[in-house]
Amino acid sequence: MIHPVSEFRPSARVARVRISPNAAANARAKALREAGRDIVNLTIGEPDFDTPPHIKAAALAALAHGDTKYPPTEGTPALRAAVAARFSADTGLAYAPAEVLVGNGAKQLIANAFSATVDAGDEIVVPAPYWPSFPDAVAYTGGRTVILPTAEARGFKLDPAALDAALGPRTRWLVLNAPANPSGADYDAAELAAIAAVLRRHPGALVLLDEVYDRIRYGAAPPHLLRVAPDLRHRVLAVNAASKTYAMTGWRLGYAAGPEALIRAMAVVQSQFTAGVSTVAQAAGLAALTGPQDFVAEALAAYAERRKLVVEGIAAIPGLTLAAPAGAFFAFPGCAALIGTLRPDGRIIASDADFTEYLLEDAGVAAMPGAAFGLSPYFRISFAADAATVTEALRRIARAVAALAPAPALAAAGAR
Ligand SMILES: Cc1ncc(COP(=O)(O)O)c(C=O)c1O
Repeated sequence: MIHPVSEFRPSARVARVRISPNAAANARAKALREAGRDIVNLTIGEPDFDTPPHIKAAALAALAHGDTKYPPTEGTPALRAAVAARFSADTGLAYAPAEVLVGNGAKQLIANAFSATVDAGDEIVVPAPYWPSFPDAVAYTGGRTVILPTAEARGFKLDPAALDAALGPRTRWLVLNAPANPSGADYDAAELAAIAAVLRRHPGALVLLDEVYDRIRYGAAPPHLLRVAPDLRHRVLAVNAASKTYAMTGWRLGYAAGPEALIRAMAVVQSQFTAGVSTVAQAAGLAALTGPQDFVAEALAAYAERRKLVVEGIAAIPGLTLAAPAGAFFAFPGCAALIGTLRPDGRIIASDADFTEYLLEDAGVAAMPGAAFGLSPYFRISFAADAATVTEALRRIARAVAALAPAPALAAAGAR
């Protein structure tokens, strides 16, 4: 049958993918604000700081030098060398520039990796709660996401026995994001060793290590997985970015290190989709990685202050629970006790999505439902916002929760 052009029909591949729920929620919060509503927006995982001046200066210098031609697909030699040096220092293993790919943010590198390796029916194991782009990037390739739920009682960390059961002959990748978005979960050396032991029993599975929050840790940094298990090196793709560490989300600069054959296959994908990363962003990224690192410590101190506000603020709200985040700048409180309660307008809170909708409508706080991250009933708030904003959000959430009433049936049962 011939379809008239007016009946737009996306490809099956695109029909399987959603627009990022985080971006959609952020856009909605911004639209409400523009329409005059007083909205505290905690939906987006983006540093509220500006990119440090020496990084901007490097970009301007690149422009002044006429560094405006097509980039090498894999990244400029100087930046690949800097990234290789950083991964070598982190892992204690010698990474060569040929084992590094520079991409348009961690997001593109993850999409490159799945595009380069996943065939229909291949399985990608993703612990939940997860960053929503993981399953969508998998869906685009025709692979199958195997969601592996984690428990709040374990700090949302993988249970090695459950991991062992989830990995199988069709597993192409295990995704390991630590510190994690949205839970802030992080693994210590013993926990990494336990995961490595499971991985050794499944030699066909690659490991995508998403380390974009590795410079945002509130305690002593644990060792890198490859320090604990250097024998896994031929199976690990480590993905990182300037985005969160250097407040460079808009520059779209990420980098990955892994086995050379995999990096080459990812570069084939990249060569056809984007031809590489803006030369100006790469010059800025080089300055970020090789220049002064004071900003990283300053930003961490600010996030730590806000994290304290959030941990204490959520603890003071009856009905909410929280596994304190070890890293990143998100909290993922539990709201199980609020499910089944009634809003002041009589509507029932039947899910975490209902709860975040209530927070937005009633309290003017924009947060993300746990459902968007594959685990309910929870919600995510980002504390990459200034302390006053975080304090105001907590005040509003506390007030909104206090205004909820037990459902009549529950109230009657409680009265008996
Ligand atoms: C876990 C995780 N990985 C990757 C990204 C994307 O990073 P980038 O902006 O460098 O593409 C994000 C951004 O929110 C994230 O939370």
